[in-house]
Amino acid sequence: MCGIVGYIGKNTAWPVLIKGLERLEYRGYDSAGIALLEGGTFSVYKKKGRVAELSKFAKSHNELSGGVGIAHTRWATHGVPSDANAHPHLSNGGDIVIVHNGIIENYLSIKKVLIGKGYKFKSDTDTEVLANLIEDIKKNGSAGRQIPIDEAVRLALAEVTGAYAILVLSKDEPGTMVVAKVGSPAVIGIGNGEFFIASDATPIVEHTKKVVYLEDGEMAVIKDGKLSLKTIKNKVRKNLYVHTLKTKIEELEKGGFPHFMLKEIFDQPESLRNTMRGRIVMDKGNVKFGGVEKFNKEFKNLEHLTIIGMGTARFSGLIGEYAFEELAGIPVKVEYGSEFTYRSVANGRHAGLIAISQSGETADTLNAIKKAKEEKLLTLGIVNVIGSSIARVVDAGIYNHVGPETAVASTKATTSQALLFVMLAIYLGRMRDLSKSDGQKILKEIQKLPEYVESILKHANLIKKLAKKYKKYKNFFFLGRKYNAGAAMEGALKLKECSYIHAEGCNAAELKHGPISLIDKDFPSLVIAPTDSMYEKNKSHIQEIKARGGKVIVLTTEGNKELKNVADDVIYIPKTLEMLTPILAFVPMQLLAYYIAVEKGNDVDKPRNLAKSVTVE
Ligand code: G6P
Repeated sequence: MCGIVGYIGKNTAWPVLIKGLERLEYRGYDSAGIALLEGGTFSVYKKKGRVAELSKFAKSHNELSGGVGIAHTRWATHGVPSDANAHPHLSNGGDIVIVHNGIIENYLSIKKVLIGKGYKFKSDTDTEVLANLIEDIKKNGSAGRQIPIDEAVRLALAEVTGAYAILVLSKDEPGTMVVAKVGSPAVIGIGNGEFFIASDATPIVEHTKKVVYLEDGEMAVIKDGKLSLKTIKNKVRKNLYVHTLKTKIEELEKGGFPHFMLKEIFDQPESLRNTMRGRIVMDKGNVKFGGVEKFNKEFKNLEHLTIIGMGTARFSGLIGEYAFEELAGIPVKVEYGSEFTYRSVANGRHAGLIAISQSGETADTLNAIKKAKEEKLLTLGIVNVIGSSIARVVDAGIYNHVGPETAVASTKATTSQALLFVMLAIYLGRMRDLSKSDGQKILKEIQKLPEYVESILKHANLIKKLAKKYKKYKNFFFLGRKYNAGAAMEGALKLKECSYIHAEGCNAAELKHGPISLIDKDFPSLVIAPTDSMYEKNKSHIQEIKARGGKVIVLTTEGNKELKNVADDVIYIPKTLEMLTPILAFVPMQLLAYYIAVEKGNDVDKPRNLAKSVTVE
């Protein structure tokens, strides 16, 4: 986890680094730090808390000049959030400074050896161990003579196991910055006589559109204004493969909304349009996915699919499960990426894996893909961040195209993921028994989704009122059946993440098999009960809760008056096909979580203890 930024060039590093850290705060925000190379020494500023605090602290301490610097925003793995554990970390001799995103798994054994050599440690981190290992190797490099920093980093990395993206500076070589990665992302922006390095492209896009993605096991050496790439095994990469970024700066800003989360909720009509744009082929009752076509034969032969993801992504997968089974008749299993990696996979022939991830960097999901590839499964990614690790590792891919999602709690990526699952189910279905006219019927409804979401958003104030009413509760159930069981789990996750209210997402039928014992007047439930094939069943579930004194907010179809006198509160969503209802149901649940969090004074965009992109297992 964590975010890293680096700058080396003719301008002042500080503003680039601090702005870059703000953009990367979604990756972790328990402490932050910057090291600047000024007048032959390192000035290191680091502070527990947010980037804004670091900025105030550093400004009050010094004039922040220097054209070379590295920076870090942290999500603690080794050692509590504190000033001492914040990055950057200096080596004992003060020669080396480093920032690191990832985990060095064998750091304790290396630390022991270094302590034996007299090294002292100020923090509990694995990163400080790496800083000292590099210093030790650099000092004693070749026949007792110092070796260049890039070679010292390379040799040190040959000794470590784990995942990392690191930026390293040596005060003896002020014109050099070393970048290396295994498992965690690193992107290098190429400017005019300057270089910008970051965990993703968002800190880079306002400076240059030209970027190079570092591959696993590679390192970049920026020396005297020149960039070269090689592997940690010392093989030179000649072709830099310079990519052009398409992200616009406005997409990274709040656009007048008080929080990114609210902006992203309101982005959804447009983000859904962007997800479907150019992909609907109405006259064929089919969809078109450019990144998938070359595997059509394999997709046609698919006999079994596993969908993997974590958090919100996996809940979207639960919607995909029903859609693939209903439209394409393909048996599907939905699994945590983290578990798929470690279980004995009994995949028959013609098995495929769909990895779903907004960030494209989730380590649990990424590792599962690696395992699937070892098992010779066809791998398909549904990913939002273009050029991310998952997008690059899978055989075939579909991008969400919803633009950057900044708030930690996922909103616009979620609705897009659910939509893509239905669209992909049509695609796989049309290769099988789904008729053209059935395909067209679903696609026509899909095209109406943006308007439907717009109409839900027009009534956001009603949800705001509900938030005031329900904010006092300490527990919540979110319940649904079939397509909306996964949606209920996502609704619960949203409330947990943003409002810190304990919420359980549960299949409504399962309630009576245990969880119902929790229901009383202080334990309300939100039941997703559109007028679909599960409506009658859901009505019974609502009665079961009411009979036990529980409060019920029901989320049902516009025009359905029946539940008005049964439920305590009713939220309406437009009528659509059953398989599309979760996409609409997500929106009021997102708003409820958002407004309750605001009511409670929580940091909505950056809830405590979380990070948007979890790049550790
Ligand atoms: C983190 C976030 C969740 C997110 C999950 C998967 O845990 O806090 O909100 O759903 O990662 O992220 P991904 O980027 O793979 O979709």
